[in-house]
Amino acid sequence: MKKIKWGVIGCGGIADRRTLPGMMLADNAELIAVMDANNELAQSAKEKYNAQYAFDNIEELLAIPEIEAVYIASPVAFHAQQTEAAAKAGKHILLEKPMTLTSKESQKLADICEKYNVKIGVGLMMRFHTYHQMMKKLIEDGKLGEIVSMRAQLTCWYPDMPNNWRQKKATGGGGSLMDMGIHCIDLLQYISGLKATEIASMSGTQIFNYEVEDGGSLIARMENGAVAYVDANFNIPDDAAVCKLEIYGTEGSIFAEGTISQVEGGNVRVTICGNQGGYDAAQNREPAQSYIMEAELGNMYTKEVEGFGNAILNDTVPPVTAEDAIFVQKLIESAYESNDKKKFIKL
Ligand SMILES: NC(=O)c1ccc[n+]([C@@H]2O[C@H](COP(=O)([O-])OP(=O)(O)OC[C@H]3O[C@@H](n4cnc5c(N)ncnc54)[C@H](O)[C@@H]3O)[C@@H](O)[C@H]2O)c1
Repeated sequence: MKKIKWGVIGCGGIADRRTLPGMMLADNAELIAVMDANNELAQSAKEKYNAQYAFDNIEELLAIPEIEAVYIASPVAFHAQQTEAAAKAGKHILLEKPMTLTSKESQKLADICEKYNVKIGVGLMMRFHTYHQMMKKLIEDGKLGEIVSMRAQLTCWYPDMPNNWRQKKATGGGGSLMDMGIHCIDLLQYISGLKATEIASMSGTQIFNYEVEDGGSLIARMENGAVAYVDANFNIPDDAAVCKLEIYGTEGSIFAEGTISQVEGGNVRVTICGNQGGYDAAQNREPAQSYIMEAELGNMYTKEVEGFGNAILNDTVPPVTAEDAIFVQKLIESAYESNDKKKFIKL
């Protein structure tokens, strides 16, 4: 099998924790070079993942002709400039979420990639969880009837840290909603096949002292009239929340705990009631069928890298497009606008 030759830009955070280990397991990927602003991290990633080169600047990495694609996982404020440089160097780009600090800037970046004829994909990797794909299939097959209500939750404990890029608007683009809520609403749209059309939201900084919100919730009206609820908090201990994912339809439901995570796992109960027919005041109906979802689980980051690699190899559309990522970024921006103006915002 032909392998895509990769360079990794920003290899010390999520890249080291998840994406590089995932890339090592990808059938169609070969790591050539790593780069980090912190040279020690670059050197240690080179050793750990057996790369040929380690750099502390992107120019040297982008100058390597055999590199076909880059994965960019630097802090968000650097994404625009690094993606543009990669596009100009003719490299395809798998870019971490959010693409840039604003949806406007993200759109410009998508246009630049088009101009230089390189593919851009975005790291909304929760879509690749086997259970999430199975949920999507159940809904596509009509097993839940019409979707009426959904919820997705992602939390962690993220205390004040000096000079932390994620805790400032100018370097992170937003707080818990932009960082984690964006995964949740993307996932709900992806699984249900429904797009949000209107947003109401409340967010703020309650527990910590940083500038961006440490907690926020949004309610989205979906295109079929269903209501989706997202809560994303930096102020709930990791072990205190189970990162719920709930989807309810007119004929059944999906109730998951722990699937919204960086590791494929969690528990999913599916309940299928079938068509309820006419109103029955006594509620005497056939008992619903409930089962626990079971499947062989994999690595979402491996599938993300393989999926983007296959899009390059087969010249197809990447599994998570810039268009999708810009839509959910706009949606989170609308959530901030709703909070500020205390109004519902139409998308
Ligand atoms: N999809 C996911 O599972 C997931 C999880 C966490 C973070 N992320 C995203 O990944 C990106 C990075 O987040 P993180 O948590 O790894 O951040 P981080 O701060 O933990 O790590 C960022 C790395 O980039 C390096 N760096 C700093 N400036 C750089 C520059 N100019 N060029 C290259 N490298 C530079 C840092 O030294 C560090 O090693 C963000 O976009 C974030 O939203 C995605």
